[in-house]
Amino acid sequence: MDRVVSLKISLLRKCLPQCGLLWIVLISAVGVVRADEFEPNYDESKVPAHVLPDPLIRLDGTPVADAEAWRTLRRPELLTLFSEQVYGKAPGKPDQQHFEILDDEPQALEGLATRRQVRVYLTAGTEGPAIDLLIYIPNMGRPVPVFLGLNFYGNHTVAPDPNIRLNTRWMRNGGAGVVDNRSTDAARGSNASRWPVEMILQRGYALATAYYGDIDPDYDDGFKNGVHAVFDVQVTGPLAADAPRPGDAWGSIAAWAWGLSRCLDYLATDQDVDATRVSVIGHSRLGKTSLWAGATDERFALVISNNSGCGGAALSRRAYGETIGRINTVFPHWFCDNFNQYNNDEAALPVDQHELVALIAPRPVYIASAVDDRWADPLGEYLSAFHASPVYKLLGTPGLPRDSAELSPVDEPVKSGSIGYHLRTGKHDVTDFDWQQYLDFADLHLRPK
Ligand code: GCU
Repeated sequence: MDRVVSLKISLLRKCLPQCGLLWIVLISAVGVVRADEFEPNYDESKVPAHVLPDPLIRLDGTPVADAEAWRTLRRPELLTLFSEQVYGKAPGKPDQQHFEILDDEPQALEGLATRRQVRVYLTAGTEGPAIDLLIYIPNMGRPVPVFLGLNFYGNHTVAPDPNIRLNTRWMRNGGAGVVDNRSTDAARGSNASRWPVEMILQRGYALATAYYGDIDPDYDDGFKNGVHAVFDVQVTGPLAADAPRPGDAWGSIAAWAWGLSRCLDYLATDQDVDATRVSVIGHSRLGKTSLWAGATDERFALVISNNSGCGGAALSRRAYGETIGRINTVFPHWFCDNFNQYNNDEAALPVDQHELVALIAPRPVYIASAVDDRWADPLGEYLSAFHASPVYKLLGTPGLPRDSAELSPVDEPVKSGSIGYHLRTGKHDVTDFDWQQYLDFADLHLRPK
């Protein structure tokens, strides 16, 4: 998409926020045409020359000399820049949030685990948006560390266990067993290959997961549904009916990340799990989400981003595969409106994604790529890990234990430091190989020595 079109889109988004259908038709018409025209660059020699912002130099040019200056000056500066320019500002924890245990089965999965299904109500009553959390807790060694991640098609797709509640909220078509945007029993267990429940439990971890659409359905509706409907006013203030939504108001990724924090609020009340040892994990758009969740909520002890690509771990300035202009055109609801300013103008961004990774420091972070997932730019994902490493080192942790800006060899995980990375054979997906590395990495950092 050229810059003129992207500017037009930003202007339209600013000027026409309340013209419902017209707005949606205009944006999608331009978006569809441009999305079809988009030619991703997969040629390393055509990656634009660029200079990355240095995470250890403040906006006023002052170098960050020590951990204290990082903590009190540079980290807040970066967090604000990402909030205002990339993901958008989210509200705080809802005052009236409360939980209901819907199911508590101590002998699930042939006695391997306790299955708990908990509804996280975000408002005082039971009518507002709510997140259904599925938790499998191994029946040994409690309180146990946890992997927490959002899923794409409902908790019932994560395992074939017939007692998992079927999620009948709006869902994207295209998933197994989804008919007219609603899931059916045929979807049960359809995403099990991405969630090796038994393996996780046998390694002594609980698995907690929720459907991302419980938080915000994944389509562009002008922020009228999901948690935006209820909590937008807390970030935008009261807006006149025809007033534009502020450019730094939260998009869907920020909403999903905020929802992960609400799931963690519940985990902190559950005696059987250890909320100080929660790894937040996500794949693809939900890998972008896990990184932002880890950056914004320091209670997450470890962060995993699987094939997260553009707006996740991949450096934006490389414009390799998916670009900012492309992602904002096809998914206009994911980021805040201000992010449109950088469509085809990555150099103007005051941050790049290695600084998102650095915001997680000193907590361990693992970034994973796949060879055939060029759209997500494996080298750009690796380089984020590499260029975040100086911050980890400043904070007294090993960072990425590999001193090379070249991609690490295929299927040879780098996992002995506080930044982990691997490039796996195969396509855009989450596999057992990925999970084996995440479990090893969590063992290294979250198991008492
Ligand atoms: C699209 C999108 C990516 C995203 C992916 C996903 O491919 O362009 O940015 O990561 O969907 O979430 O599945």
